[in-house]
Amino acid sequence: MDSPPNELMSTLSEYLSLDPLSCYSLPPEAYTDLALYTLELDAIFRKEWLCVGRAEYIPTRGDYYCIDILDESLLVVHGQDGVIRALSNICRHRFMPVVQGSGNTKRFVCPYHAWTYETDGSLYAAPFMKGSSVPFVACQATGSKPGVDFCLLIWMMMRRHSSIKCRQQISAS
Ligand code: FES
Repeated sequence: MDSPPNELMSTLSEYLSLDPLSCYSLPPEAYTDLALYTLELDAIFRKEWLCVGRAEYIPTRGDYYCIDILDESLLVVHGQDGVIRALSNICRHRFMPVVQGSGNTKRFVCPYHAWTYETDGSLYAAPFMKGSSVPFVACQATGSKPGVDFCLLIWMMMRRHSSIKCRQQISAS
C-alpha cells in the first residue's frame, strides 16, 4: 500500500497542535487521497467498534436488515435464539447475496440454489446437495459479536482477513 504524501501528513500533524476552534476544515487532499483513505480504513474503521444501527430496528426474533460496511455486505439479525448478530450476507456456496432490504424470517434461503441458513448464520440445509460426499462449511461473520449498549445502539467490529470465521463443518443433509 502507498503511504499518504508526506506533505499531506505533515499538514495534518500541524492541525493537531492548533486550537480546535481555529481549524475550519481539512485540506482538500484529505478528502481525495486514496492512500489516506486506505490508512483510515485500516487504522480506524477496521480496528474500532462501528455503530451499525439501533436495537429498535429489529425488536422481534427473526427481524433483520442489510447493511454494507467496508465493502462487506452484512446482515444484522435478531436471531431466533434472541441474540443479535452481524452475519455475512454472502452465500457460502457461490457468493450470492442471500437477502436484500429488511424483514422478518425464520430462516434465510439463498435465492440461487436454496441453501438455507439459520438466523445464527449456521447452515441448515443445502437441498440440491443431497448425496454429495463433499463436506461443506457453515460460516458466520464477524470477527466479534455485536454488542448493544445502554442506548440500545448495535456495535460491531470488523477486521480484515478475520471478518469471516468458519464455525463448524457439517455433512450434506
Ligand atoms: S449461491 Fe447460494 S445456494 Fe448457491
